[in-house]
Amino acid sequence: MAIQWYPGHMHKASKEMAEVLPRVNLVIEVLDARIPYSSSNPVIESLSAGKPKIKIFTKVDLADSATTRLWQDEFEQQRQTKTLAVDLKTEDRSEQIVDLCRKLAPKKDGVNSLVMVLGIPNVGKSTLINSLAGKHITRTGDEPAVTKGQQRINLRNGIMLLDTPGILWPKVQNEPSSYRLATTGAIKNTATTYEEIAFFAADYLLTHYPRLLIQRFQFDCLPTTEIDFLEAVGAQRGCLRARGRVDLERVSTIFVNELRAGTLGAVSFETPAMIESELADLVILQAEKAAREQARLERRGSRKKSPRGY
Ligand code: G4P
Repeated sequence: MAIQWYPGHMHKASKEMAEVLPRVNLVIEVLDARIPYSSSNPVIESLSAGKPKIKIFTKVDLADSATTRLWQDEFEQQRQTKTLAVDLKTEDRSEQIVDLCRKLAPKKDGVNSLVMVLGIPNVGKSTLINSLAGKHITRTGDEPAVTKGQQRINLRNGIMLLDTPGILWPKVQNEPSSYRLATTGAIKNTATTYEEIAFFAADYLLTHYPRLLIQRFQFDCLPTTEIDFLEAVGAQRGCLRARGRVDLERVSTIFVNELRAGTLGAVSFETPAMIESELADLVILQAEKAAREQARLERRGSRKKSPRGY
């Protein structure tokens, strides 16, 4: 089952953003380099269609660099779209970003260009805006959705930034994407459990990054299933309950936090090929669901027409 989280303040913020978007000259979309597709808001994407865009991949230090390159190539094929991959913790790329903004949306008739900065919760929007503004103007924190309400920031270089709250969208259609959002910390921890995330992440890493797991946990022989993996790590870390049983919740919390902090190494949770295949599966699933619904309606309709009992 997909993990969903769409509190009321996100609905309100989304409506407010949609109202302002027609006046915006350029959109900076902040994406998590580990999940560039899953961290892209499809609602905003459609509302901002036709506007020049800079897609900034943050947390590039935590992502697989080869996969990040693949995503940048993929997104750069979209119209009027430029990408930049940055590690906001150690790099200051504000000059480059400002230059790009001026190029894509130059100041007209002495009027500042209005640049909307948007992104899902916890992706690094506040950190980016702080670095662009050169001073600490918005709060950064470790809980998703810290920033609330839009804020205008005059950079005094022809650019007016419009900071927006981190929002998700009502329904994440692609189920693996919802797990990826929870794994990277965009979906609030209270909307799911560490265990659920740990099972998803362990399964993914066993398949795609087995060497990182062997290095980090010094396995002679890599466990084959996610439960065996978590039990082995739990035993190593002393996460034990009565009679030596592994405390899955404790080990899951440790594992997910290490993964989020990059302690296991640089990991990307999706590639363009994976997403292409997942979306193709989704189309089939949705068509099957629609056919089932149609058949149900037809059965109901024919039952109403026929006399009782026939
Ligand atoms: P938001 O406004 O989009 O919600 O995100 P925010 O800037 O608050 O950043 C969320 C967390 O992500 C912060 O960590 C921030 O330091 C971290 N972060 C942002 N960009 C990068 C990056 O490029 N690489 C890495 N590794 N981390 C990044 P925190 O632990 O919540 O706070 P703190 O460590 O700054 O105290």
